[in-house]
Amino acid sequence: MSIFRKKSATTLATAEPTKHHAAPHHHEREHTMTIDAPIAPAGAALDAATEADLQQKAKDHLWMHFARQSGMEAGNGVPIIVRGEGHHVYDSQGRKYIDGLSGLFVVQVGHGRERLAEAARKQAEELAFFPLWSYAHPTAIELADKLADYAPGDLNRVFFTTGGGEAVESAWKLAKQYFKLTGKPMKHKVISRAIAYHGTPQGALAITGIPGMKEMFEPLTPGGFRVPNTNYYRAEEMGFHGSLEEFGQWAANRIEEAILFEGPDTVAAVFLEPVQNSGGCFPPPPGYFQRVREICDQYDVLLVSDEVICAYGRIGEMFACTALGYVPDIITSAKGLTSGYSPLGAMIVSDRIYEPFKHGQTAFYHGYTFAGHPVSAAVALENLAIMEEEGILAHVRENSPKFRAALERLRDLPIVGDVRGEGYFFGIELVKNKETKETFNADESERLLRGFLSKALFDAGLYCRADDRGDPVIQLAPPLTIGPAEFDEIERILRSVLTEASNRL
Ligand SMILES: Cc1ncc(COP(=O)(O)O)c(C=O)c1O
Repeated sequence: MSIFRKKSATTLATAEPTKHHAAPHHHEREHTMTIDAPIAPAGAALDAATEADLQQKAKDHLWMHFARQSGMEAGNGVPIIVRGEGHHVYDSQGRKYIDGLSGLFVVQVGHGRERLAEAARKQAEELAFFPLWSYAHPTAIELADKLADYAPGDLNRVFFTTGGGEAVESAWKLAKQYFKLTGKPMKHKVISRAIAYHGTPQGALAITGIPGMKEMFEPLTPGGFRVPNTNYYRAEEMGFHGSLEEFGQWAANRIEEAILFEGPDTVAAVFLEPVQNSGGCFPPPPGYFQRVREICDQYDVLLVSDEVICAYGRIGEMFACTALGYVPDIITSAKGLTSGYSPLGAMIVSDRIYEPFKHGQTAFYHGYTFAGHPVSAAVALENLAIMEEEGILAHVRENSPKFRAALERLRDLPIVGDVRGEGYFFGIELVKNKETKETFNADESERLLRGFLSKALFDAGLYCRADDRGDPVIQLAPPLTIGPAEFDEIERILRSVLTEASNRL
């Protein structure tokens, strides 16, 4: 069954070291929204000697993440990205690409914002560093206040981290300690969904539902249990037949089942992304999160909304749970909080969960040197101000249907099985046979995604992600500033490359 299939690690074929090929010239377009002046002029290539020197140093010393080093070892070279401006990035040879993935679901307001660089510079000059270990500094305080304002319900307490995996790790530890403090010390297990990615620390990895990413590190932190995800396109393979609404109830009820299988007294939390990234953008069916909330309340299990990708405008609200109409107990976030101009993560916690930590000698003995870094917090404040001033959330809500429509037009291609997602976050599932939904086997997937698609898309001027952690998908999560002209350009590139891919099958 393809949804549970075990794969060798991953993906990120966009970052596989490959030989460079000349990208066809593509027409430049104006940005849809006004942005600041770029930090430096765009398109400047590195000279040949500098490029060769960097390639050699990369080959000798750089260990890339989630990537096979064999391409580099073979001397194929690696794409070196040297500059970003708006929704474009430029490589060392001066070639220009649409950043169809916002770097890695990060650069919400686009590249090259002088304002964000200036906010970082100013803060570094004033106070470059101080920890949050019993002390505070103004930018972390202001940012905590701001995030509490944006967060729904009584989620008023902000615990900073440096990234998403740390936020997830923090949330699990917090859930465990919360239950120890409130007289339910056995509650420690977590439930998450098949193929979901929640980060790489060994706790977060135990929450991650991708067997191929974990097997080399087993045994992981004990206590992680999986339930089906909300992939309606492949619901029948999970044994479900019925409407989307019924599927939502069915999928949510699998969480109740897992809680009962394990014993409610042992389960601390459920970790869910609002729209699941891995597997290719599974939106929740209508009513899904409402039923999950009911189940969590009934069994006193914390609902953690892992919004590392979905927060900060990605699906049209500061927090995706607001868009989807549920209030979690904890939100985990990172990535878009600073638009990537400096690293930062944040766990946002409800008053109820915070309450037992308010008293006496109790403390949450957990933290990170760089969490809530003054420079990152200053950048985040400026980034959120830009989002507000430029009406980015409304822009995403207004334009998301147009983005969807542009991608839906690709359904006429024989290789396109499904198009799904929300906001500026879409996945296109590729299939071998559209009628039967037959997917590619591991070899075909390897040849199609790594051997052809990723490189062909990049060569055609589109940086995005071809992913086979579940069934093969192309994922798009561009900067939130783009509009219909760029949607058409993305569709045009995808159409030509996917047509070629179909012909090669
Ligand atoms: C939903 C989710 N949680 C956690 C993480 C881990 O975040 P980080 O890479 O910042 O540790 C990611 C990263 O993509 C993610 O998508």
